[in-house]
Amino acid sequence: MHTIDQYRNSFITYLNSAIKEKEPKNLYEPIEYILKLGGKRLRPILTLMSADIFGADYKIAMDAAMTIEVFHNFSLVHDDIMDAAPLRRGKQTVHEKWDVNTGILSGDAMLIDAYKYLESYDGAVFKSLVSLVSKVALQVCEGQQYDVDFETRDNVSISEYLKMIEYKTAVLVGAAMKMGAIIARASVIDQSLIYEFGKNLGIAFQLQDDYLDAFGDLATFGKQVGGDIIENKKTYLYLKALEQATEAEQNSLDQLFSIQPTNNKDKITTIKAIFVDSKADVATKQAIEDYTKKAFDVLEKLDISIENKETLKQFGLWLMNRKV
Ligand code: IPE
Ligand code: IPE
Ligand code: MG
Ligand code: MG
Ligand code: MG
Repeated sequence: MHTIDQYRNSFITYLNSAIKEKEPKNLYEPIEYILKLGGKRLRPILTLMSADIFGADYKIAMDAAMTIEVFHNFSLVHDDIMDAAPLRRGKQTVHEKWDVNTGILSGDAMLIDAYKYLESYDGAVFKSLVSLVSKVALQVCEGQQYDVDFETRDNVSISEYLKMIEYKTAVLVGAAMKMGAIIARASVIDQSLIYEFGKNLGIAFQLQDDYLDAFGDLATFGKQVGGDIIENKKTYLYLKALEQATEAEQNSLDQLFSIQPTNNKDKITTIKAIFVDSKADVATKQAIEDYTKKAFDVLEKLDISIENKETLKQFGLWLMNRKV
C-alpha cells in the first residue's frame, strides 16, 4: 500500500505526460486547462488504491484512472454550463473563459478520450471495464437530468433526491473502485462490495458537496458559494429545511425558490439563515455521517487485510471532514 499523496503524485505525473498539445487549439486548450487545473483527484486515487488492495501493481490501473478522471472532468465542463457556474477550482470555468460552444465540444472530445484509455486492456478485463463505464456514464446523465428537472419541481422527496445524487455522483465513485478491482482480477463478490463501498461514500460526498456549496469558503472550496441556492437546486439542505422549518419559513423557501435564477445576495442570506434555524444543516451533517458509516459497514464484508480496511476508512473520514 502507498499513501494517498503517493497515488496522487504518481497519477499527476502520468496525466501530465499523457496530455499533449494538439490542433485545433480551441478544442484541446480547454481540455488541457481543465485537466491541469487540479482538483482532489479523488476518483483516480480510488482506482489505483483499489487495484493495489486487491493485489495488483497499481501502475497497471493508471489508464483506467485516466478514464475515470477524464470522464469526471468532461462531466464538470458540461455541468458548469448547465449550472451557469462561473468558478471551478478557484478559476474561471471553461464556458466563461472561452464560450459555451467550446465547452460543449471540448467536453464531447473528453468523453471520447476517456474511453480511449481503456484500449490498454485486453479480453475479459477490457469488456468488463467498457460495460461498467458505459453503464455508469448513462446513469450520470440520468442523474444530471433529474437534478435539472427538480429545479422547477416543488414536491421533490428525500428518496428522489437520494436517487438523483446516487446517479449523478455516487455510481462514478463506486465504478472508480470497481475498475481497480476488475484490473486486479478480484472475485465478483469483492468487485460488487467495493462498488457498494464507493457508492455509499459517493452519496456522503455529494451531501457534503451540497453542504459546502452553502456553508463553505470560496478560498478553499473553489466554487461560487451559494450557487445551488441561486439555481433553485433541491439539495438535502433545502428538502430538510422544508420539512423542519416554521410555516412562515416554509413559505419563504417556496417563494424564494420559485424565482428565476439571479445572483441575489439577499436570497442567499435568507435561505442560509433558514437552513441554520431549521437545523437542516445539522441533519445534513448527520446524513453525511450515516452514509459514511454505511460504507464502513460494507467494508467489514470485504475479503482484504485489516490494514487495507483501515486505509479505506481513513480515506472515508478524510473525505467526510473535507473543506475542499
Ligand atoms: C465535483 O467533484 C463534482 C461532484 C460530484 C460534487 P470533486 O469535488 O471531486 O471535484 P474536483 O475534481 O476535486 O475538483
Ligand atoms: C455534479 O453535481 C455532478 C456531476 C458533475 C455529474 P454538482 O453540480 O453539485 O457539482 P459541482 O458542485 O458543480 O461540482
Ligand atoms: Mg454544478
Ligand atoms: Mg450540477
Ligand atoms: Mg455541487
